[in-house]
Amino acid sequence: MALKVLRKQHNEHWGSRQRFEREARALGTLAHPHIVAVTDFGIEEDVPFLVMELLEGESLESRLRGGPLDAELAHRCAQELLAGLGFVHERGLVHRDIKPGNIFLERTEQGPRVKLLDFGLAKLVVATAHDANLTRSGEVFGTPAYMAPEQVTGEAVDARTDVYAAGLVVFEMFAGRRPFVGSDSELLRQQLVDPLPRLGDVRPGVPGSERLDSLLLRATHKEKKQRFADAGQMAAALQELAPRRANSKARTARAGSSRPLSPRPSRVASVLRAGALLVCGVALTAIVLAGGVIYLLDSPDGPSHRVLLKRALAPLLDEPRAPAQR
Ligand SMILES: Nc1ncnc2c1ncn2[C@@H]1O[C@H](COP(=O)(O)OP(=O)(O)O)[C@@H](O)[C@H]1O
Ligand SMILES: [Mg+2]
Repeated sequence: MALKVLRKQHNEHWGSRQRFEREARALGTLAHPHIVAVTDFGIEEDVPFLVMELLEGESLESRLRGGPLDAELAHRCAQELLAGLGFVHERGLVHRDIKPGNIFLERTEQGPRVKLLDFGLAKLVVATAHDANLTRSGEVFGTPAYMAPEQVTGEAVDARTDVYAAGLVVFEMFAGRRPFVGSDSELLRQQLVDPLPRLGDVRPGVPGSERLDSLLLRATHKEKKQRFADAGQMAAALQELAPRRANSKARTARAGSSRPLSPRPSRVASVLRAGALLVCGVALTAIVLAGGVIYLLDSPDGPSHRVLLKRALAPLLDEPRAPAQR
């Protein structure tokens, strides 16, 4: 099992508990073969947490450090990413932080399988549209290298914002490098005005690169109304270009039937916005992130995650305490 927690230093950025609850419940409905399964959430000692399945493998970000994916694998991973993201969009959610670090390549006997991670920024668009208090206007979330123009300018985001980021990520799968590079401010400028480079110019020899280019240009159009309406539409277009063996539909359907049901959120909790992660296990290995900690736990047996969490949190989350405020 994997535990994702928010460190105490970020607690002041929480929104309301109601909102965390709403978001965590929404995640609980996202049972899909290409989305990490969230099985529980709650707050322990003022620390909000999510419990997930523990995945074996590596992030796409780490995989891409070793160079581009071969074209067939890139097609398959792109389809799997869009299948997971399409499912998110069908439910009226937007991920808002699609990037290689939030895409996991799970190791399986059939090769890597995509799992979409990190819904800390996901929001129910439908709900936020009805409740002005839920979204402060002008909030800028995301990562400059993968931000859509409307995120850069702080305008409303929707499924097409994820389509844009997915276009950049798919480019990177094939090309082995990001389409836009530079300082944060340079990246933001490029997102606003520079068209996507052509795959053939960046990595000659990608089969079918011209048709891929036109698909990716559409996905990453600066005007969102020119893009695919959602990941499902982008997936359908990509499917047309994929070599037959890269078509992972059959595998996706098989995997889907063996998935656990939606998790049962057990407790009220608060907003996990700054993103911190605990993957928790018997043999605790800690990876300290900017916002939190990851623990790797080999076995789901033994003490419950709440006990482990308490144990693990004590030294790691004991930042200077605000006296008796919480
Ligand atoms: N369920 C999981 N199982 C194994 N590793 C995970 C899991 N979730 C996340 N990770 C690893 O931790 C990294 C950060 O996770 P993420 O949810 O994106 O946290 P953050 O909010 O800090 O960005 C991922 O890139 C991945 O390598
Ligand atoms: Mg992340």
